[in-house]
Amino acid sequence: MNKEKLILIGSGQHARVVMYNIKEQNRYDVVCMLDSDSRKIGEKVNDIEVVGTYEELEQYRRRYNTNKFFVAFGNMKYRREVYDKFISQGWEAVNIIHPQAVISPKARLGNGVLVECGCLITPNPIIGNNVVINTGSQVNHDNVIEDHVYIASGVVLSGNVRIEENTLLDDGVIVSLGKCIGSNSIVGAGAVVTHDIPKDVIAYGNPAKVIRKNK
Ligand SMILES: CC(C)(COP(=O)(O)OP(=O)(O)OC[C@H]1O[C@@H](n2cnc3c(N)ncnc32)[C@H](O)[C@@H]1OP(=O)(O)O)[C@@H](O)C(=O)NCCC(=O)NCCS
Repeated sequence: MNKEKLILIGSGQHARVVMYNIKEQNRYDVVCMLDSDSRKIGEKVNDIEVVGTYEELEQYRRRYNTNKFFVAFGNMKYRREVYDKFISQGWEAVNIIHPQAVISPKARLGNGVLVECGCLITPNPIIGNNVVINTGSQVNHDNVIEDHVYIASGVVLSGNVRIEENTLLDDGVIVSLGKCIGSNSIVGAGAVVTHDIPKDVIAYGNPAKVIRKNK
């Protein structure tokens, strides 16, 4: 099978996880990596070379004859900015879906989405662009996951939950039926969300409480 060429953005730990999922999906060939840190140029991850930074993207499109990319780093400060930069320059974000993720055909997925091994996505959720859903997480019926959300491992979202853009849910978070997490917030590991969480905050605990502003 002829695989499609893909450029990965980022070369750290999250990139290794993404590469594992790409290998299992067996649809894309990673041809190179770009990284914001020019000191990494020349390094290799799983035999794939970091060839440059995010400047002058056109040269990579021409050199590798592809406009497909995937944001493969976890830093929430920059995930959105970098994704938007590539999209505004005409690049195409692909979806990386592990073959052992179970996704309802009635789920709507955006672009640039990662769904890892063991995830369960039941009918009718809407999942935005540049969203990460890590190992073994559950996105249940009628959820709305907005753009640039990062869901870590073992997260359980009950039905009718809304996660607003650019929010991070750490490992093992549970969000109960119909609750909303506001944009740019972080919910700490193991939190049980029983009330709506406002935007721009850090919250954790059982039941989850707002701890401070997320600057
Ligand atoms: C949620 C988060 C912002 C909390 O950071 P923080 O406020 O700096 O927390 P600290 O580690 O300084 O801990 C401060 C206190 O809060 C407690 N605490 C921290 N996280 C907690 C949690 N999730 N639940 C309960 N208590 C927690 C600590 O035990 C500590 O208590 P102490 O003062 O009694 O010792 C941080 O854990 C975070 O950024 N998580 C996301 C990590 C991530 O990127 N995950 C993706 C994985 S793929």
